[in-house]
Amino acid sequence: MTFAVVLAGGIGSRMGNSETPKQYLMLGKQPIIIHTIEKFFVCPEFEHVIVLTPKAWVAHTENMIKKSLGKTDRITVIEGGSTRNETLMNAIRFIEKNYGLDDDTIIVTHDAVRPFVTHRIIEENIEAAKKYGATDTVVPATDTIVESKDGEVISQIPNRATLFQGQTPQSFNAKKLKELYESLTDEEKEILTDACKIFAMKGEKVYLVEGEVSNMKITYPFDLKVAATMLGGDLTND
Ligand code: CTP
Repeated sequence: MTFAVVLAGGIGSRMGNSETPKQYLMLGKQPIIIHTIEKFFVCPEFEHVIVLTPKAWVAHTENMIKKSLGKTDRITVIEGGSTRNETLMNAIRFIEKNYGLDDDTIIVTHDAVRPFVTHRIIEENIEAAKKYGATDTVVPATDTIVESKDGEVISQIPNRATLFQGQTPQSFNAKKLKELYESLTDEEKEILTDACKIFAMKGEKVYLVEGEVSNMKITYPFDLKVAATMLGGDLTND
């Protein structure tokens, strides 16, 4: 079975809006998170769409979904975790409890704050995850990436031709991800903020799916302005 996992458990501190996590800010006529959920909800390949939010936002999110998409039993909203990976693990625990985990259980995990993901990217993630077990969506790096170990002088400038910027979805064989995550020490869990890095660190191959520059992540207020422009509408949060 294939599941969509929408990660919305963060608080959006860099957005600077203390009351409302950024995924609930309006983008055009609806909250960012609804744009994102819709992209997955319309894909028939997904047995179920699991949305993970901060505890205080679960009921609100359920209401928003009902209002926008109608009553559906194909979406479940549950509480996220203290870190992004813990949020992801909550999704896997939910799947295990309600559907069981087997070698064919695929999860397509996506940041709630990337509302412009395309159908093509989602389809290619499903296909590649089924084939290879772990996939990351990337675009070629456009800026030169400069590494500095002390933040003062350059340590090295890697060859840009081999560098990519990571986006989401990241898609996995859920059973494998659970096994790898559980094999990590607490210290490793602290460092491994990215689920693909868990695979890479353990010597497992992660295949690349071509992303889109438009599949941007809304992190700062500026990004929300860009997103509103891309949608062709005005900002309605002011
Ligand atoms: N996320 C999550 N659970 C967490 C932390 C983050 O599901 N405990 C989600 C966010 O809601 C977001 C995605 O992971 O959709 C990408 O993370 P990021 O942009 O860093 O979101 P925040 O952690 O909310 O932002 P900030 O770092 O500015 O606080």
